[in-house]
Formats: sequence, structure tokens, C-alpha cells
Amino acid sequence: MNYDEATGWFEQIYGRAPEVVACAPGRVNLIGEHTDTSEGFVFPAAIERRLWFMAARSSASTSRVVSRELGEAEPFDFMTADPRSVAGWAGLVAGMARAIGIETGYAPPAFDAAVASFIPIGAGLASSAALCVGAGLALARLAGTELEPMRLALSAQRVENEFLGVACGVMDPISCALSREGSAMFLDTRSLEIRYAAIPDSLTIAICDTGVPRSLAKSAYNQRRAECERAAAVLGVPTLRDARPEDVDRSSARLGSVLTGRARHVTTENDRCRAFLNALEHCDLGSLGALMRASHESLRDAYEVSCPELDAMAEAARAAPGCEGARMTGAGFGGACVALVDQSRFASFEAAALEGYSRATGREGTIFESRPSDGTNLLIH
Ligand code: GLA
Repeated sequence: MNYDEATGWFEQIYGRAPEVVACAPGRVNLIGEHTDTSEGFVFPAAIERRLWFMAARSSASTSRVVSRELGEAEPFDFMTADPRSVAGWAGLVAGMARAIGIETGYAPPAFDAAVASFIPIGAGLASSAALCVGAGLALARLAGTELEPMRLALSAQRVENEFLGVACGVMDPISCALSREGSAMFLDTRSLEIRYAAIPDSLTIAICDTGVPRSLAKSAYNQRRAECERAAAVLGVPTLRDARPEDVDRSSARLGSVLTGRARHVTTENDRCRAFLNALEHCDLGSLGALMRASHESLRDAYEVSCPELDAMAEAARAAPGCEGARMTGAGFGGACVALVDQSRFASFEAAALEGYSRATGREGTIFESRPSDGTNLLIH
């Protein structure tokens, strides 16, 4: 769907053109998984699958929002309603409308909005962060104000936390708001400092969806986060960002086996994420692949957020032609793997990885490729 098609669809619904249009990407994390909840390092890239959020002022007292994929939400008044009382995904939009008012002092007017998303839902590609950031950017403009991208991302994180009940970190909305075409983003989630690292033109990012929905993700995510906080307390540090793998080994008797595993994953993953930056800057493909494999194994064995289908997909991807490295990506318990693949061999990679995955699991996966894409942008009609 291009700009004209998206705005044409809006006009069909509301009988007038949108006044603001935002286009927000999904993201895939290359490495640095389950570290942002401990103020660690992450390495996401925005993908070419994007979402359109379009809106125009309304003279009604309530706001309306329609999703091309999920249907029409009940009209809501975000000035008076608790966003959590707004049913379904529309609560994220109501939450962002309210957040804009609080953050900038300029509340958006009542609006009619429409969302068309090409980001697979439930695959761990941050479709809800894209909705929040896209809605926030567009509604701020409708309110006649602007929110600087980092503040917008942090507001989006708070809305996601509150509305979805997942104590998620800052990676997804920051990647969605601030990514740059052609580069992945090395992000320090403590200082919020960003370093962009180019992905060589010869490589493409393959997103290999297992087709398994992330059923356990919410409760397990919050539980893992709490375990990391307990581990940090035992180690006597503010967060696991402040611990080294050697500290974890020294204290493993006091931590017990579960907390040792969680802390070992986070501390070694932070090291892997930094090493990945170095390998990328030196075009050291061998190291990139080894680091991705080690990350997957640590998520599987120590952090325990993989599942047989993610393991099978990572394995099938690694064995396929042109693959430089593969691992699970996102929160886990289903969703997708990410692989770095020689662009010129993508077609044979795709066929072999899908075949290997289906042989191992009896399931059908789906794979698409993407170059690193731009963050959210605003297109005024
Ligand atoms: C989800 C969260 C992120 C991050 C990842 C795991 O995507 O929203 O903040 O914690 O899981 O790395």
C-alpha cells in the first residue's frame, strides 16, 4: 500500500482526506536480547514492513479509530476515559492521545483515525510499538505541537507498559522512532546513547517466522524481568548492567541455578552485543555468525525463552545457503528468528530454510527479507 492508496482508503471511510499521516516501521533485533530490562545494550534495525496511521480532526465529542486488519473500535473520549477502559488495540491510540496532552501541554482535538499495518502481528516485530509511535507523531501534529523523537518513544513505552501489562523495555519504540535507513542501531538503554552501524549492502536481513503465536510471552516476560531484578539485588548492584559474567560465576551458590542462568545470560549478552558492533564495523562476518549462535543458545539454555520451533528455525536457517548467522529475536516463546543472509543468495536461502524447518517440525514457516529501514516519519497531506 503506498501513500495514495492509504489516504484513499481513509477518504473512503471518513469522506474526507486525512490531515496528518505517519508511517512507522516494525523492528527486528539483531542481538542484545532481554537486556533492555536491565539497562543493557541492544542492536535493533527498523524493517521495511510499516504501518500507516492517518487522522483528521473531528467535530464530534468522541474519537474514532478503524484498523484495516482488526476492525473498528468503539468511539472513545480520551480526555475523560482511562485508556485501559478502551477495548482492544485502540487503547494504545487513546493512551498516546492522552500522553501527548500530558507531555506537551497541548491535547489533540477529537479525531477520526485509521490504521493500516503491514507488520505481522504477534511475530515479535514490535507492531504495537509502531502503532504507539505512529499515533503519537500524527496526533501531536494534529494538536499543533511536536514531541522530540526520544520523548515520543519513552511515552510510547509507558503507554505499552500500562496498557498491555508487559513491563517491556525501551528498545522497540526507540528503534521505531529513531532508526536510519541502511543501518542497525547500537543502543545503550541506560544512557540512551545511539550509535548507528551500517549493514553491508551485500547482506540482507531475513525474518523467519515460525508461525507459532507467542502465547506465554506476557507472564514469562514479566517473570524473567523480576528474576533479573532479584539477581541484581543478590549481587548488590543496581541492575545486571553493572555486573560482569565473572561476578555471576562467583556468586552462583548464593544466586541458585535459576537466577544464575538469568544473570549469566544478561551479562554475557551485553558483552556479545558490544562484540557484535565491533565485528560489524570490521565486516567480520565469521564473528557475527558465532555471536548470533551463542546468543540463541544462551536464550535457550540460560534465559529459557526459546521453544522447539524457534530452535528448529534457527538451525534450519544456519544450514541454508548464504546464511552468515541466525538466532531467535524478540521476546521469545514463538515468533520469529532473524538471520543475516548474503543478498544474492536469498532465494535459495529461503527455500532451504523453509524446507528444513518444515522437515523438523511439520509446520509451515514464512520468511521475508528486509534492508534496514528509516524510523517513523510524518507525511502531511
Ligand atoms: C520485547 C520488549 C523489548 C525487549 C524484547 C526482548 O520486544 O518489548 O523491550 O525486552 O522483548 O529483548
